[in-house]
Amino acid sequence: MTRAEVNENFRRFIQKYDTADPKIQLKIVHTMHVADLCDTISDSLHLNQEDRDLAWTIGMYHDVGRFEQLRLYHTFNDAQSVNHAQLGASLLLRGALGPVDALIVKAVALHNVYILPELNEREQLFCDLIRDADKIDILRVNRESSVETIYDLPMAAFQQSSISEPVMKDLMQHRTVDRTHRQTAMDAIAGHISFIFGLVYPKSVQIVMEQGYLRQLLDFPSENPKTKEQLHQIDQEIDQYVKEKIKERAEW
Ligand SMILES: [Fe+2]
Repeated sequence: MTRAEVNENFRRFIQKYDTADPKIQLKIVHTMHVADLCDTISDSLHLNQEDRDLAWTIGMYHDVGRFEQLRLYHTFNDAQSVNHAQLGASLLLRGALGPVDALIVKAVALHNVYILPELNEREQLFCDLIRDADKIDILRVNRESSVETIYDLPMAAFQQSSISEPVMKDLMQHRTVDRTHRQTAMDAIAGHISFIFGLVYPKSVQIVMEQGYLRQLLDFPSENPKTKEQLHQIDQEIDQYVKEKIKERAEW
């Protein structure tokens, strides 16, 4: 399948939805960014053209479930509706976007899981790739709206709270924050910061550092002395982590 055909399949698919709806627009733009990021990461991994096209296609199809989720449930909240990644995979299996490889279906189905199951080498490669690309673009989207809007909480809630111990532990152990550990408003910000630890490829880490949003979060104007100290500690930890990750890239 060529990129032109994939593009055409995607266009035809989204025509069934209200493309004037800003929420739909947001997902179309996100899709384009993620597909582009799949290309950038594929380049850094020196993948061959066929695999680059495959990664790009996964980027184009990864969130098709979002459109159907919004139509059926009027929300992007999986907990309140349906797992959008599984919904997307079932749409693909039903041929909603034409014939697709099993590998594409698998990568789409697993793009939002907290921990990936056991996979073969190729599945792992493409799952890691789409998950990195998706995380990078989620940070771009978040940057464009304030934390108050994203979490529907007043600024004071962020400025006054501190980071809970289990969340701090996740960060210090270089893990993406487990959602169930989150208790305070600051924990949500810490959760965004922890996205950096979920990234697999050095190129992804580099892109996020260049994006600037992480810096913005680390410099969050907290009014709580404990939080200021916690953010400082996280900052140092990330600095070290990034240096090691970039070195990993130089050693390839
Ligand atoms: Fe998604």
